[in-house]
Amino acid sequence: MRAICLSKYGSIDNLVQTELPTPQPKNRQVLVRVHASALGPADLKVALGKVKFLHGRRFPMVLGYDFSGVVESVGPGETQWQPGDCVFGFLPYGPANNQGAFAEFIVAQADQIARKPDNVSHAQAAAAATSALTALQCIRDQGGLPATDARVLITGASGAVGSTAVLVAKRLGAQVTALGSPSGLELARRFGADAVIDRKNPNLVDNAVGTFNVIFDPAAAYRWSQWKGKLKHGGAFITTLPSAAFFADKLNSLFSPSSVALAYVKSKQKDLELLAGWLESGFEVAVDSTYPVRELAKAYARYQKGDYLGRIVITVDGGFSTSK
Ligand SMILES: NC(=O)c1ccc[n+]([C@@H]2O[C@H](COP(=O)([O-])OP(=O)(O)OC[C@H]3O[C@@H](n4cnc5c(N)ncnc54)[C@H](OP(=O)(O)O)[C@@H]3O)[C@@H](O)[C@H]2O)c1
Repeated sequence: MRAICLSKYGSIDNLVQTELPTPQPKNRQVLVRVHASALGPADLKVALGKVKFLHGRRFPMVLGYDFSGVVESVGPGETQWQPGDCVFGFLPYGPANNQGAFAEFIVAQADQIARKPDNVSHAQAAAAATSALTALQCIRDQGGLPATDARVLITGASGAVGSTAVLVAKRLGAQVTALGSPSGLELARRFGADAVIDRKNPNLVDNAVGTFNVIFDPAAAYRWSQWKGKLKHGGAFITTLPSAAFFADKLNSLFSPSSVALAYVKSKQKDLELLAGWLESGFEVAVDSTYPVRELAKAYARYQKGDYLGRIVITVDGGFSTSK
């Protein structure tokens, strides 16, 4: 199969289309022909060798976590899926995973994917997978929202997780305040945010009106210690990145009425199914731009430029170079 590979850490300007063995599905696995993937921060951090623990270290390395595609074949004992089914999800973030969706095929665990609704594009399903499940699991599971009058503040409004988190929090019935740069705030308004705060505002915290059940920080730029006065009793500040500041805050919050938590996204089938239902009924995440997989280096350059809005989608099926 064809894949776009890194030859060593840091070689993102020199990604090479390579012929690799097609993986074979084992017990309770399916082989998926990838139609679309997405490029996110993990793809950059791993490629640059800055965060190696999110991926296996085998070279040539194929990245790309999010995927949407069509089941090509199933492993022994698999009964839930059949060839031809359209499915989506994301590969595990961790050192045991040596696959990537910037390739023609991946194998996925049968119980870690969901059916892609017919009225949803592969691009949209791939763009939504990690970002929506991160937001869902952070806000709903780590945060825990009351049945009524839930209030959530979300940072990184122009990012993939932050922008999608606005949609997720609205689906969970919360009132949402979004914090970010102006283009992200415009998007957040479109996605239903009730209030917005420009992150350049010098009195950021004072400008957040009222108190919140959850402050979700996918920008990974803020601290519980800074925001604790804006958390309700029992409220939670939730981040997606480990840092020294997080561990210091964790310690300092031990006897506080609010908490601080770090969450890692998991590809839970039930959550993907919930997302599939939302997508089917019009939940649509922001897609900044789309590149064929043969132009992955250009997609990386776009991401590194930094003014993106939402997720960068990679078209995989039909996206490889045909010349040798
Ligand atoms: N733990 C997990 O399981 C998990 C899962 C997914 C992602 N993540 C992590 O979560 C983070 C967000 O992911 P993502 O896909 O949304 O990334 P992203 O698309 O790159 O978005 C990050 C956003 O943060 C804001 N930002 C960047 N630098 C900032 C700064 N210095 N100060 C304030 N805001 C800043 C920007 O939005 P504005 O300009 O609008 O503020 C930016 O768009 C990444 O670090 C990623 O690695 C973790």
